Amino acid sequence: MKFFIDTANLDEIKRVKDMGLLDGVTTNPTLAAKEGGDFRKLIASICEVVQGPVSAEVVATEASKMVQEGKDLASISEHVVVKLPTTPDGVKALSKLVEAGIRCNMTLVFQPIQALVVAKVGATYVSPFLGRLDDIGQDSMHMLQSCRTIYDNYDFDTQILAASLRHPLHVVQAAEMGADVATLPPALFDKLLNHPLTDIGLEKFLADWQKRA
Ligand code: G3P
Repeated sequence: MKFFIDTANLDEIKRVKDMGLLDGVTTNPTLAAKEGGDFRKLIASICEVVQGPVSAEVVATEASKMVQEGKDLASISEHVVVKLPTTPDGVKALSKLVEAGIRCNMTLVFQPIQALVVAKVGATYVSPFLGRLDDIGQDSMHMLQSCRTIYDNYDFDTQILAASLRHPLHVVQAAEMGADVATLPPALFDKLLNHPLTDIGLEKFLADWQKRA
C-alpha cells in the first residue's frame, strides 16, 4: 500500500518524507488556500521535494475550463496528477485529459457507481472519501469494499486512493479492503506508531539497561 500525505504544507511534507514513508501528495483547494501564495509555485515546490505523484485540483466547474486548467497544472511538472471533481463536467474533462495523456485523480467519490464510471473513462486514481461518509452515519468500508470488488471483476487499472482518513483504524481497514493508496493528513502519520505498551516497554528496557551489572 502506498502512503500519500494530504496537505499542501511544505514543512509537513518534508517532515513525513524524512520518516521514509512518503510515496506522493494530495492537495485540494481547501488545503492549498491555507498555504496562500501562488498555487502554481506551491505545486512546483512540492514536486521538487517529492519525486512521486502530486495531486493538484482544478477549481473550474465547466468541462472545457477544467481541461484548460488541468493542462496548465500538468505542465508544471511530470509529477502532477490533475484532480477533478466527480461530476458530469468532471468526467467529461477526464475523458479529454486522458486523451491528452494526462493522469487524473477523481475526487469527492461517495458511492461505488461513481468509481465504476471514472474507471471506465480512464482515471489513474479514484478517491473515495471515507471519513466524510462515516460523518453522516454511512458505512464507508462497505463502499470501499464494493469499489474494490468492481475493479477486480473487470481488471480496471484505476488505483483506489482512500481519502478523508481520520484515524489509524481507517488506514488498517483500507489496507484490509485492498486500497492501493491511503492519503493521510500529517497528524495521522504520527498516530500510526502510537501504542502505550510500546512506550511502557521501552521505558522498562531502558531502566533495566541502567541497572546492568
Ligand atoms: O483531500 C481529500 C480528502 O482527504 C479530504 O479529507 O478530512 O477534509 O474530509 P477531509
